[in-house]
Amino acid sequence: MGTKKSVSVLGLGRMGSALATALVEQGHEVTVWNRSDKPVPVNTTRATLEESFRSDVVVTCLSTYDVQRPLLGNGDGIKTLVNLTSGTPEQARATARWAAANGVEYVDGVIMAVPQQIGTAQARILFSGSANHHVLGAFGEPVYLGEDAGLAALYDLALLGIMWSTFGGYLQALALVGSAGITPRQFTPLATDWLSVVTTFLPGMGEETHSRSYETDVSALDINVSGLRLLAEAGAEQGLDTTLPQALHDLFERAQRIGHGAHGIASVIEEIRK
Ligand SMILES: NC(=O)c1ccc[n+]([C@@H]2O[C@H](COP(=O)([O-])OP(=O)(O)OC[C@H]3O[C@@H](n4cnc5c(N)ncnc54)[C@H](OP(=O)(O)O)[C@@H]3O)[C@@H](O)[C@H]2O)c1
Repeated sequence: MGTKKSVSVLGLGRMGSALATALVEQGHEVTVWNRSDKPVPVNTTRATLEESFRSDVVVTCLSTYDVQRPLLGNGDGIKTLVNLTSGTPEQARATARWAAANGVEYVDGVIMAVPQQIGTAQARILFSGSANHHVLGAFGEPVYLGEDAGLAALYDLALLGIMWSTFGGYLQALALVGSAGITPRQFTPLATDWLSVVTTFLPGMGEETHSRSYETDVSALDINVSGLRLLAEAGAEQGLDTTLPQALHDLFERAQRIGHGAHGIASVIEEIRK
């Protein structure tokens, strides 16, 4: 257990409540503030915003930066702000500038976990800005990314983008196999096995995007554009929405048109980057 601190948590949503509870479990003295009247987590005390700002550390976990910004005012008395509200890199950088102008130490963090995982070894807390992780260790394993306060939000959105694309692909697949009466229980073991194969290609693809050299003896973009067309057509045959496969098909096809047909799939990044 680290040094005991006074910590204020602003926001008692699903995540903020879990954070306050984890802080209490680590022996910190915790006050909480929430816009609406919600039950406070065990062994925490309700405080006004003004009182909250006097704590050693102020942790924010609100729905958006737009909601958070007016609450913080000029930082009146805040020593250290640990922001765990999700946002864009530019929103984080603007808050870092606001903090510097108001004499507030700023840690920008993102939580790669759900509330039920807070305080467990499964939770990673990526952070940037100030290198001092303060109370982040109470929530999970802190991973420092660098001085640029926008880095945590950048990694967060990049990683969540992979998750959302995977979930979208999985749901499209369930709808497709479901059109033939196949249940999720029958299909999902094959899907998870397949994903573990797919992830083995990521390091090689990453290197190709870095060197911008896309020669392949595995699978050309041409054949993948044809495959995506088949996926969209099969969905349409079954009366399904084909937004996702069609969007991927169109993106891959644009890369094909600028000369990457014989290259590997990683070459699609050339179309994304522009
Ligand atoms: N839940 C997750 O799995 C998860 C995972 C990683 C990161 N996060 C991030 O954690 C943050 C909070 O998420 P959550 O799941 O806790 O959301 P939530 O349960 O919807 O809670 C939202 C919080 O924001 C407050 N709020 C909303 N509008 C407000 C306003 N105008 N003024 C003051 N307070 C306002 C709410 O207050 P009221 O109670 O009064 O409505 C509540 O405390 C988000 O940025 C989210 O992206 C969440």
